Order: sequence, then structure tokens, then C-alpha cells
Amino acid sequence: MPESRQYSAEYYDAFEWPLHDVELYSQFTSPDTEVLELGCGTGRVSGPLAKKSKHLTGVEISEPMLHQAKEKCKEPNISSILDDITSLNLNKKFDLIIAPFRVLQCLEHQNQVDGFFNVIHDHLKPNGVAILNVFNPKFSKDELAEKWLTEEETFCGETLLQNGDTLKLWDTRKDLDVVSQVLYPEMIYRRYRNGELVDTHVNPICMRYWYPDQFKQLIESKGFTITKTWGGYSGEVYGEGPELVIAFTKSSHQ
Ligand SMILES: C[S@@+](CC[C@H](N)C(=O)[O-])C[C@H]1O[C@@H](n2cnc3c(N)ncnc32)[C@H](O)[C@@H]1O
Repeated sequence: MPESRQYSAEYYDAFEWPLHDVELYSQFTSPDTEVLELGCGTGRVSGPLAKKSKHLTGVEISEPMLHQAKEKCKEPNISSILDDITSLNLNKKFDLIIAPFRVLQCLEHQNQVDGFFNVIHDHLKPNGVAILNVFNPKFSKDELAEKWLTEEETFCGETLLQNGDTLKLWDTRKDLDVVSQVLYPEMIYRRYRNGELVDTHVNPICMRYWYPDQFKQLIESKGFTITKTWGGYSGEVYGEGPELVIAFTKSSHQ
């Protein structure tokens, strides 16, 4: 991932994302479960899930994000590894593999996606479960270019930082590739102190997207069998909610 695309470790945790994914992952853990978390970021999921597991290994490519995770998660049963989840080789197998909050969508190129699924294959126990999620695109292929792209900045929210500064977040939606199905938004953080702008941080990211059937086909094409699907974290049916969440195992002939 280009350096400029790395998520802002400073501001990532400032906003509370309305995700209830930890509860879903917890249904797949017990005190015996060895968890591999791919793209663990600042440890949003790592700490809570480690409490419900035997051991959690978090892998992350961004040093500042991993540093933040280590500062935040002091559970003794967490190992943090700086590595690339598209080429990782830990020589170890796990009961549960997760990549929370759309990590798969950070992988822009097909060779990265292929590498990522090989990593899951190589690290999943024969009866292990992997769970992935991506967002469910609101617009059809034809509508996307017309409805997603905009010259305007879109306001996403604001929050109060611990020192009393206000952090506001916008995004831009100026570029997309409809053939490869990748969005290129920029997240723009602006920090204000007593009403005065004191910092601007622009974080370009990429988000490859899949439609509900494509996401299922992608997983099955990589030698896995789908065992459960969800449309979000509040009981939505697959394809009808905001998120596409799929649990899968290795296909038995693999
Ligand atoms: C949207 S964040 C999700 C972070 C965390 N999983 C969460 O739920 O809050 C995506 C994370 O994936 C990491 N990532 C992206 N590509 C990666 C790669 N090739 N190898 C390891 N980590 C990667 C990013 O640095 C970022 O921390």
C-alpha cells in the first residue's frame, strides 16, 4: 500500500464507527480459540476479542497503526506483527481468521486479493472459520459514476478530542474505476482549537467494491465453502442491509 494511503493512526480512533462486529466474531470464539486478525489497525477489535479467545495474532502493514494497537491493547494473549496480509507466512494455523471493517476492500489489485485468499487458506485449520465483510454498494454499476462522484466535499461528522479540540471529517469522491470496481475517496480531517483551524490531514484511500453475488462467487472461487451470511450486524438479510458479511470454511476436497 502506498505510504500516502495508510490510515491516519492519529485520527482513526477519534470517531466511533457504528459497528457491532465484535459481538458477531465473539459467537465464533471460546477460551480455546486461536484467532488471526488480518489488518488489525489500531486494535479496535483485537482487545475485546482477545478477552474471549485463547490467543489473538494481529497483523498490520502500517507501523503507526500497529503502535497504536500495542498502546491500547495490553492483553497478554495478543501478538502484534508488522507484515503484509497479502504475502504473510506464519507457519501456523488458526481456528478463526477475521479481517474486520472491510480490510479486503483496501486491496486494490487482483494479485493482492489472490495473495490475501492464499494467506487465509494457508493459515486456516481444516475445521477453522474465516469471516470477511465488505460494504453493500448502494448504487448499481451504471448509477455509481453518476451518483457517487461529486466535486463537493461531503461532511461525515465531528467529534471532541480529549484536549478539547474539535475534529471534523469530510470526504471527497472525485475518482473511481468502474471496470476494476475501485473507489478512490479522500478522507479530510480538520482539527479546530477555539474555532481556529490548527491541522488538516488528507488521507487518500481506495475501496474495491463487490456486489452481493460477486462477493459470494469470489470466496467460492478461492476454494472455500460459505457456511453463513449476514446483511449487517443487526439481523439484516444478506444483500438487504448495509454490509455483506460471510463466514466460510475450506472446501472439504481442499
Ligand atoms: C479500515 S482499516 C480496519 C482496521 C481494523 N481492522 C478495524 O476494524 O478497525 C483497514 C486496515 O487494514 C490495513 N491494511 C491494508 N492493507 C494491508 C496489507 N496489505 N497488509 C496488512 N494490513 C493492511 C490498513 O493499514 C488498516 O489498518
